[in-house]
Amino acid sequence: MSVETLTRDVVVIGAGATGLNAATRLKEAGHSVIVLEARDRVGGRLWTNEIDGVPLEIGGQWVSPDQDVLKSVIAELGLKTYARYREGDSVYVAEDGTRSLFKGDIFPVGAETEAEIVRLIGILDGLAAEVGYLAPWEHPRAHEFDAISFTEWLEQQSDNTIAKDNVTLFVGPAMLTKPAHSFSLLQALLMAASAGGYSALVDENFMLDERVVGGLQSVPLGLAARLGDDVRLNQPVRHVKDHGDSVEVLTDDITVTAKRVIVALPPNLVSRIGFAPPLPRLHQQMLQHQSLGLVIKVHAVYETPFWREAGLSGTAFSPYQLCHEAYDNTWNVDAETQDTKGTLVGFVSDEHADRLFRMPAEERKRLILESMASYYGPETLNPVVYYESDWGAEEWTRGAYAASFDIGGLSRYGQDLRSSVGNIHFASSDLAGHGYQHVDGALRIGADTAEAISTSL
Ligand code: FDA
Repeated sequence: MSVETLTRDVVVIGAGATGLNAATRLKEAGHSVIVLEARDRVGGRLWTNEIDGVPLEIGGQWVSPDQDVLKSVIAELGLKTYARYREGDSVYVAEDGTRSLFKGDIFPVGAETEAEIVRLIGILDGLAAEVGYLAPWEHPRAHEFDAISFTEWLEQQSDNTIAKDNVTLFVGPAMLTKPAHSFSLLQALLMAASAGGYSALVDENFMLDERVVGGLQSVPLGLAARLGDDVRLNQPVRHVKDHGDSVEVLTDDITVTAKRVIVALPPNLVSRIGFAPPLPRLHQQMLQHQSLGLVIKVHAVYETPFWREAGLSGTAFSPYQLCHEAYDNTWNVDAETQDTKGTLVGFVSDEHADRLFRMPAEERKRLILESMASYYGPETLNPVVYYESDWGAEEWTRGAYAASFDIGGLSRYGQDLRSSVGNIHFASSDLAGHGYQHVDGALRIGADTAEAISTSL
């Protein structure tokens, strides 16, 4: 088969939110672009798909009020948002399995433990503000904060196990999706700082505020539609050759010669591309110290949202349950397109996810639904549609939600995180300071990288 040869100003590798926004902004600035995407669809970790007749958000879905760039792109594409359903009581399940109802951010854990949770969140808020999201590795205590695991740091701060379990929930299972003994205090502070503070991570009304009508994949789909033929699907990039005065990017079918390339991939996938000359040694090392977490996002759809009739919002938490958090995820809550079915979404993270993925699918499903039933009762056990998002098995992602450093990695390699190498630039939500791990961060770093390239061209 003959190889198609093309010439462009900039080649973008990856049609996720990062790559598509970078290409869009470069094209607006008058540069010619092409986006090469490995999959047969755009959106990467954003994927809205119909499962057994029900549209589900397989990947990212929520928009928080601080996601300014995402909000402006949503408006630019003429998309609409709606508020997540949150009327009624939330549910908390304690260590001994006791179920209680509550409103607000702090779980019903007793006055003393509540005061301890508030105290710990206060300390974390202060440290996150000091460390910031742009260059946490520059903080005078960066090395110290990066040398201690989040678990160990909490051990030093408090004797209250329930308080520690609850504080861990927000940054471990719920965000980095890794066990808290495997990431550092500094990495946790970066996550918190990028979201506006540890208090913001705790506030699900903030983090999980709105959804996009039609699904969040409408954003990359909208950007790709404008780029038209300049987005090419089924084109996994195999090689990048930087010749100094030009760069060559090769898939099995296409060779593009360009002035610059943007590698818009999560860091765990960059080494699948062969680089000539090889990337610098510290860059190679940096890539080996970042990995994606693992979370199973579970959708369970019912004939009706039965929990609403019981006065429940659908919001549920427990650091002691397999499914550590769950929400009402009923499609499109507005008068015109209101779905009559009810959808719950739950999350099983890190070591729980490892354990469940070693089991047969039927046993996994039974255990997950039993865990969700501890929040909403026995009706939960019989959904009409059941679906587990399995990003760990996706060839072109290999985990969820995003990448973080192992202990000590952020202070050691953070300074190289967003550095370009010759004509090669790197961008993805995993590298974003502002909006780290979120779609807003993806769009931001895409636009910033486009601007830097545009200026240099
Ligand atoms: P992304 O991984 O999306 O894009 C990279 C692209 O590169 C992919 O399309 C991939 O196929 C392609 N690719 C890989 N290798 C290639 C190669 N060699 N050649 C060509 N192409 C290649 N965020 C948020 O804001 N709100 C939320 O509610 C959630 N929730 C959430 C849930 C789940 C289950 C997940 C997995 C993620 C989220 N997120 C989220 C995170 C959010 O989805 C994520 O941060 C961004 O979508 C990442 O966009 P990027 O473009 O940076 O990477």
